[in-house]
Amino acid sequence: MIYQRTFAAVLASIAVLSLFRASAQAPPLQGSATGFINTLMPQPSQLSVQEGHLAITPSFSIATEHFRDARLDAALTRTVDRIRTRTGIFISSSPAVDAASAAMVVSVDGAGETIQSVDEDESYSLEINSSSAHLRAATVVGAIRGLATMEQLVQSDATGYFIPAVMIHDTPRFRWRGLMIDCGRHFIPVDVLKRTLDGMASVKLNVFHWHLSEDQGFRMESKAFPKLTEFGSDGLFYTQGQAREIVAYARDRGIRVVPEFDMPGHTSAWFVGYPDLASAPGPFHIERKFGVFDPVMDPTRESTYKFLDTFIGEMAAIFPDHFMHIGGDENNGVEWKANPRIQSFMREHNLKDTAALQNYFNQRLLKLLEKHGKHMAGWDEILTPDLPKDVMVQSWRGFESLAAGAKNGYTGILSAGYYLNLMSTAEAHYAVDPLPEKTDLTAEQQARILGGEACMWEEQTSPLDIDSRIWPRAATIAERLWSPRNVNDVDDMYRRLEVESLRLEGLGLTHISQEDVSLRQLSGSRQIAPLRILASVLEPVRFHERAHLQHANQLTPLDLLVDALPPDPPSRHNFELLMRVYLQNPGGRTQAETKLTADFSAWITAEPGILHLMAESPRLAQAEPRVEQLSELGTIGLDAVSYLSSGLPAAAGWKAARLAVLDEAEKPQALVRFTVIKPLRDLVNAVSETPAGK
Ligand code: ACM
Repeated sequence: MIYQRTFAAVLASIAVLSLFRASAQAPPLQGSATGFINTLMPQPSQLSVQEGHLAITPSFSIATEHFRDARLDAALTRTVDRIRTRTGIFISSSPAVDAASAAMVVSVDGAGETIQSVDEDESYSLEINSSSAHLRAATVVGAIRGLATMEQLVQSDATGYFIPAVMIHDTPRFRWRGLMIDCGRHFIPVDVLKRTLDGMASVKLNVFHWHLSEDQGFRMESKAFPKLTEFGSDGLFYTQGQAREIVAYARDRGIRVVPEFDMPGHTSAWFVGYPDLASAPGPFHIERKFGVFDPVMDPTRESTYKFLDTFIGEMAAIFPDHFMHIGGDENNGVEWKANPRIQSFMREHNLKDTAALQNYFNQRLLKLLEKHGKHMAGWDEILTPDLPKDVMVQSWRGFESLAAGAKNGYTGILSAGYYLNLMSTAEAHYAVDPLPEKTDLTAEQQARILGGEACMWEEQTSPLDIDSRIWPRAATIAERLWSPRNVNDVDDMYRRLEVESLRLEGLGLTHISQEDVSLRQLSGSRQIAPLRILASVLEPVRFHERAHLQHANQLTPLDLLVDALPPDPPSRHNFELLMRVYLQNPGGRTQAETKLTADFSAWITAEPGILHLMAESPRLAQAEPRVEQLSELGTIGLDAVSYLSSGLPAAAGWKAARLAVLDEAEKPQALVRFTVIKPLRDLVNAVSETPAGK
């Protein structure tokens, strides 16, 4: 983060390079005679840039043509409010009286589907010239997508705020573009979910997959079965009124809400209040640890289906979406094998193993879902040949199950590669395509791949840091699912992501601001400048590393340095770019050299200030070894730059010794890791050495 302002010139040159590398079909990325700067995310499917721009003035107003309803009016008001906030220009929220006098005209054919489905028409066109803007869409959802683009088009220069003249025809590549949030392991409050929905709408995601039950908590009020939350939630659950509020809030933004009640496994929390549903006698407790546990529903008792019939009926009335997700993942079958009654049921029904018994359970569940008007969605474990073809499979274990499902007639979405909780980079997620160019699927099979979902599992995440775990990385998955396949320039993605990240913060998300809040709380001081220098080159270790090192459970406070830091901070890619530019001309006294030298010096001089803060904060002091390492990295950097700029060789053995320091610094420590090791290795390797013995 410390790089983004002073480093603007270098970034701009890289961005211009990426312009020339853009393929012929891809939309233009940045720069043109018109001064248009493309910061759209996701990129539209077709974009052409015209001369001129539409100035935003106090008389800017929007009129509707043909059709309007309350949802469209609310969307227009939101857009006007945001443009007003962004520009500081007082624009009235009331619609223009007639289209002829309006700066922007919105022509929509109709409301769209009463219950939004995967087939909803989300396409739109946007035509902007120097006197007016015209947004056209078949449905209100299409108009909402176009308004999100309009908000992203707002630009400024020294003369004022404006919307560049462009012609956009846009339609999504995939119809199912989701974000799953696990509210079972850590409860996520309604206001956090609402701002997340605002972020989703900004990047045109259209499904909120709400994971509502887990071993660690049952989060949805049931009036038919009140003991589900009375005993299974620690008092942290959504009332039915709140769930309806979320559904309405999402619908207002063209987002479907697909609830998930994970069964037959991951169900410990159900059994605390209703032990008769379980396959073992109990007693049961809310599970505090994380992992895969034995408690599982009893699929052999009619009373289980009677319960689920009533429960699904109750939930179907709250969640209007055509799909209900039944989970189905990670049932270890232990309790089924241990129960003689269940074993004899399996023999009587010719069910050869626990997978066959789970298939029997799914078949029964499917009938109940159908009775209540729902299609079934489930994780890829549910994929068995005798399930009907209208079941939708969510692939989390690998791309293979998605392709296998498509070949066997099932629709599916991809989540393998989109697990945000793994603390991977935006570019790693960006590279994952539900339908790669090289595929052996026929056109008909390809059409069964509906899209994908980013997944935010909550073992290591709390309401405080969830925004920085989702944003801005989810925006890159949103682009992968919306934009043409050939929109894949990583440098340009990061350039636009940085702009979108600020826009998302403007919507109320706290993924940027929370870092400083947490650093102040950790250090007990406002004077966090030295700490920010350290924090800007650190990120959380990978999910599995943390699980292995920390052994956290649901009650572990998530308030260490690792929890303050965003995964894949802007510094990582920016430093990589800076090093790339520097190493093109290492002896050249370039701007890149000046910037690198300033950074390395800052890493060294920050040390006493950070140690001073750490002396007062045992929580922060856990990361103390990182401070000395930061200073060592700074010294290595300065030495390397000095060899390279002088053209003099280092003594024999210099490189090996420095690379060993980098190897040591790369190891996880205090649950955080440096973001700058690889470019530093490139830098050290670029130095030449005096041959040994000279
Ligand atoms: C999953 O990650 N168990 C779906």
